[in-house]
Amino acid sequence: MSEISNEELNVATWKIPSPLGIIGSGAGDDYNGMTASWITQINMDPLLIAVGIDNKSVTHDLMTRSDYFTINLFSKSYTKVFVKFSKPALYTDGFLNKEPVSLTGNNVPIFDNAIVWFELKKQKVENFGTHSLYVGQVIDCKTLETDEQVAYMGDTRMKYGGVPRGGH
Ligand SMILES: Cc1cc2nc3c(=O)[nH]c(=O)nc-3n(C[C@H](O)[C@H](O)[C@H](O)COP(=O)(O)O)c2cc1C
Repeated sequence: MSEISNEELNVATWKIPSPLGIIGSGAGDDYNGMTASWITQINMDPLLIAVGIDNKSVTHDLMTRSDYFTINLFSKSYTKVFVKFSKPALYTDGFLNKEPVSLTGNNVPIFDNAIVWFELKKQKVENFGTHSLYVGQVIDCKTLETDEQVAYMGDTRMKYGGVPRGGH
């Protein structure tokens, strides 16, 4: 196999069209929201969605301690929310980094400004090295704005993936 440069790996990987959302996690009194693009459905019955989570992240810690998590999608006109959640969030009384959230009966945050959200029950976790794949079964979901288009990574100037760079 030919030597592939990191740049070639990154540039090619970044071309993969990605969704963009915020993973909501919670355990005990700790809550977090994390900007994430590695989100995909992987089964129909049961309805399973998988997310790739950095093993060093706060989210990974909370998702290890809890059996539940959420996926929150936002309008194309509200992509500034993703900037707020690319580092660990601060929770105070119903707000994560000043974004209003509601806690589900399973103690995980749903973002009030999301136009689509899913609550999932953890089914399987596979550690691949830098990241773990969390597979969750959808136990609840809601689409609040059917006419609004959901934001994708391509709607922003943000990138994620490829090979590790610094803290990846
Ligand atoms: C556009 C974008 C997409 C991201 N996608 C993911 C992802 O799918 N999985 C992941 O673990 N981190 C992803 N990150 C990095 C996390 O948002 C960031 O490292 C993070 O907030 C650390 O997680 P923590 O707050 O749970 O510690 C992404 C960052 C950006 C800017």
